[in-house]
Amino acid sequence: MNRTILFAVLVVVALGAFAVLAAPFAVATTMRTQPKRQPRIHPVLDMDNQARYRGQAPASAFADGRAKRPPVPGTVAWSPLPPDEAFEQGTAGEAWIEDYPQAVVVDARLLARGAERFAISCAPCHGPNGAGDGTVSQAALRRAEAAWVVPTSLTSTEVVERPNGHLFQSITHGIRSMPAHGSQIPPADRWAIIAHVRALQATHSASSASGE
Ligand code: HEC
Repeated sequence: MNRTILFAVLVVVALGAFAVLAAPFAVATTMRTQPKRQPRIHPVLDMDNQARYRGQAPASAFADGRAKRPPVPGTVAWSPLPPDEAFEQGTAGEAWIEDYPQAVVVDARLLARGAERFAISCAPCHGPNGAGDGTVSQAALRRAEAAWVVPTSLTSTEVVERPNGHLFQSITHGIRSMPAHGSQIPPADRWAIIAHVRALQATHSASSASGE
């Protein structure tokens, strides 16, 4: 046999052998990467498929015949309770709540928490006493930032007269040029901050009344 023909035959045999050997890998790779409508081939079931009941299905294993078991007496809820509109939005229907929601107890602990949160989230703009002279505002005024709006004084009559629910709304969603803080400050802390703002207002009016 001519050497060239022998060589050609060897090449064809080698390619054929390669195709046969590579085929399983190619098939496996395709099976792993191609989306399919059928469930994947699942030779070892582990615990992926087991006998089970559906939620509202009957089950003869239980005396009351229900597959879905009621919580045992004395179970404590760990998931969120039903929504509390006053607590989460500061509203009662169409109106702002004037005072605090029932779930909020104004005590020394709440005020301390409010003072701490106020110092972090509000004082940079509104100032430590809420006068509207925070460091951010001072810096903006120094640089003569054209778009800067001076933060409202939180001890102004306008804010003193706002219902608590309105303050809650301003913190949650922002107001005019003030940004929203709802994503950073959880509702309980918003109420704590409001309690602190009310305390600032009370000390302000007391010191104004005494001529300071
Ligand atoms: C980035 C600066 C900035 C921060 C931080 C900020 N404020 Fe303000 N706030 C403003 C500005 C500016 C205004 C005035 C907005 C306007 O009049 O356009 C304002 C207005 C207000 C008002 C008056 C709203 C009304 O009823 O007219 C309240 C109340 C208030 N802020 C409370 C807070 C509280 C509480 C915090 C902390 C959770 C806070 N702000 C954080 C800038 C800020």
